[in-house]
Amino acid sequence: MNTRGLRYLTLTLFLLLGIAAHNQPGQAQQANKAFTPAIPKTWDDKAMDSLELPTADPAGSPKHISADYYYRIPVRPIYKSYPVYTPGKEPSGYEAWLKQQEPETVFDAATLKTEADWIKAGEIVFDAPVSYDVPFRVADVRNPQWHEQIGARAAKDGTLPWFRYVVREKGKVELGMISCAMCHTRVLADGTIVKGAPANFPFEQAAALFMPLGFTPERARAFEQSFFGAPWIKPDPLAGLEQVSLDQIAEWHAAIPSGVIGRHGTNPLYPAQIPNLIGVKDQKYLDHTGLQLHRSVGDLMRYSALNQGADRLSSYGGFIPAARDFRTRPDPSTQLRYSDEQLYALALYLYSLKPPANPNKFDAVARRGQQVFKREGCAVCHTPPLYTNNKLTPVDGFNVPEDHRKKYDILPLSVGTDPSLALKTRRGTGYYKVPSLKGVWYRSPFEHNGSVLTLEDWFDPRRLCEDYMPTGFRGAGVKTRAVKGHAYGLKLAEADRQALIAFLKTL
Ligand code: HEC
Ligand code: HEC
Repeated sequence: MNTRGLRYLTLTLFLLLGIAAHNQPGQAQQANKAFTPAIPKTWDDKAMDSLELPTADPAGSPKHISADYYYRIPVRPIYKSYPVYTPGKEPSGYEAWLKQQEPETVFDAATLKTEADWIKAGEIVFDAPVSYDVPFRVADVRNPQWHEQIGARAAKDGTLPWFRYVVREKGKVELGMISCAMCHTRVLADGTIVKGAPANFPFEQAAALFMPLGFTPERARAFEQSFFGAPWIKPDPLAGLEQVSLDQIAEWHAAIPSGVIGRHGTNPLYPAQIPNLIGVKDQKYLDHTGLQLHRSVGDLMRYSALNQGADRLSSYGGFIPAARDFRTRPDPSTQLRYSDEQLYALALYLYSLKPPANPNKFDAVARRGQQVFKREGCAVCHTPPLYTNNKLTPVDGFNVPEDHRKKYDILPLSVGTDPSLALKTRRGTGYYKVPSLKGVWYRSPFEHNGSVLTLEDWFDPRRLCEDYMPTGFRGAGVKTRAVKGHAYGLKLAEADRQALIAFLKTL
């Protein structure tokens, strides 16, 4: 494999891990009183056992690594990092100045006194890259043509908040990426950076550009299997992968728009919309499929640890995604993890995230929209003040096991959206959770696959027709398809529809 291939592989391999360090002011709360953190043990075998819902076909429900294995994984150092600017916006002499900087590690739990200190340190973890010069390089982000091809929007201050420069060795400046911030930071139309909101950088499309340029088909297929394999599901969602060409695989990924990610454990043909982390504290279930319970701060730490790499070491009915042969678990010394302190700080930071100031006023039209919202029964599921009832809806084709009704909060009906993500992936539980409607004014696309770009499209009845052209994620080679299900609000008179949307934009 050449360097391009390697860069692609590593990007995709790392897609989802995350960390980065920087010193810009965040949205951290200012809580300056003395604070004694009660740091839960992240990998507590007992807490891990009851953490997740079983997979839709429980034959593949993961057996996670043991606490003993987990704590033998070395902790990744977090280096000080620096903003990346879009071409033409970089302060003069910046590159030379970066080359003068000494390498410095920045997370030190011993120096954290107040809750505000912990939250600030959590932002460092949120921003810390875990991948350097892979798959994109310093030369790419400094190249105006790369930006033209990718079409990303820079922030008001000229920065690209999805990337950071890192100095791990004096004189050598690397491009850091795959932080939590990479997928969970948004730049609004006016250039405001909103941390915790779904990213609007087309990572999948940018990565797909590299793919055909020297990535062997064998490596590409091994990667797809590692990231998306769920071989216990019948029929195997990746059946026939051995025959799939490299160009075809690149096309799968190129078809995934910004705000949607072929996250490990999903599938490039039914990827996941990036959810909003602002307000995550109130979410009882995590992931679109409600895969993980969120009972405590410890569970959010477990979510980050699993999704940072540890779930790839789990055995899904004998299938181990991180293993070269998909069977033999690698030695813990070859892996990296966050420390419990880092995960705790990160969770406090996520809990502290605040939405941007909403420019949409609650006027007469919005008030009318609120009446429509009530009249149409939206509040049954999108219950104020969270605008979710925090329940799960079974997807079409899933038979709810009897014990689930006692263990989980399950609505007695399906909303009828595409069941693929919930049935045919490693993250699939047979359910979708009711998402919160807060923040719909600053985020998009909508629906678990991100199939529609706007609320206008979500409430457009034409989306139920097979000749509909989805405005968000469509799928490789797909020109038209129905975005089915969730028929609520599709039969409204035009004025009511507009009013409903106006109301939703005030949330
Ligand atoms: C490559 C992109 C990517 C990276 C990197 C990433 N995430 Fe995510 N995150 C996603 C996607 C996509 C989902 C939705 C997955 C699903 O629904 O199955 C998600 C879901 C979540 C959720 C669940 C939210 C909810 O309400 O359901 C949390 C919490 C979260 N991420 C936190 C983090 C943290 C913390 C990090 C860094 C340690 C991180 N993410 C790194 C893309 C990413
Ligand atoms: C029976 C429960 C239920 C009712 C009633 C309901 N919804 Fe939903 N809503 C859901 C579920 C579940 C989803 C997620 C579906 C998916 O992603 O497949 C959803 C998704 C949405 C989304 C997309 C959110 C996102 O972040 O992608 C919006 C907007 C929405 N609903 C608005 C409404 C409005 C407005 C009404 C009333 C006209 C309504 N819903 C009625 C359960 C419901």
